[in-house]
Amino acid sequence: MIEVRDLVVRFGDRAVLDRLTFTVVQGELLCVLGASGSGKTTLLRAIGGLLRPTAGEARIGGEPAESAWRRCAYVFQAPRLVPWRTALGNVRLAQELRSGRANGEALRYLDMVGLAALADRYPAVLSGGERQRVALARALVVEPDVLLMDEPFSALDQATRARLRDELLRIWREHKRTIVFVTHDKAEAAALATRQLVLTKRA
Ligand SMILES: Nc1ncnc2c1ncn2[C@@H]1O[C@H](COP(=O)(O)OP(=O)(O)OP(=O)(O)O)[C@@H](O)[C@H]1O
Ligand SMILES: [Mg+2]
Repeated sequence: MIEVRDLVVRFGDRAVLDRLTFTVVQGELLCVLGASGSGKTTLLRAIGGLLRPTAGEARIGGEPAESAWRRCAYVFQAPRLVPWRTALGNVRLAQELRSGRANGEALRYLDMVGLAALADRYPAVLSGGERQRVALARALVVEPDVLLMDEPFSALDQATRARLRDELLRIWREHKRTIVFVTHDKAEAAALATRQLVLTKRA
């Protein structure tokens, strides 16, 4: 599903990613680990087509990054919800942006993350964990082939984090998505991953 070949990303003189090659098969849940600054977010951005690599390539389902972004959805570390839209409105917005219009699926996805009862709430009156659930529903609603998640639960307390992790595993099993999940928490990676990729920081 994902092919990363000889990927190089340089910022100035420094190669943050230096000839990285690996593949992720359909349905895998790959956890990417590594110290702060080792290039985890950079790798995710290159896979999602948010950053053009210096050399090499990342393909999704055989497509190059320029068009592959349509097959991905991104969950950022902070939920990044639109404040003047309700929880449901935020999920619908993702559909509108992707396909031009929203449909009834938005509520189904909010229900899937346990938030149907709060569909009409605005982000300002949701807790951090609830906002992150909306962000997860917003990523899932476009039915991406690949879900790219950048430390999505790191701002949450342990209990909420464990609950969302279980929910993610349930959704992953049910829907057979391919997931790349960045974390610096080894226990989290051990609980989630079918495979782990550890990046080391270069001088
Ligand atoms: N656009 C950019 N321009 C210059 N340097 C950058 C840019 N983006 C990232 N970097 C640098 O590249 C390195 C890797 O950054 P990256 O964000 O991928 O790290 P990370 O592994 O995600 O770290 P963290 O765990 O702190 O999120 C860092 O040293 C960062 O300062
Ligand atoms: Mg990062």
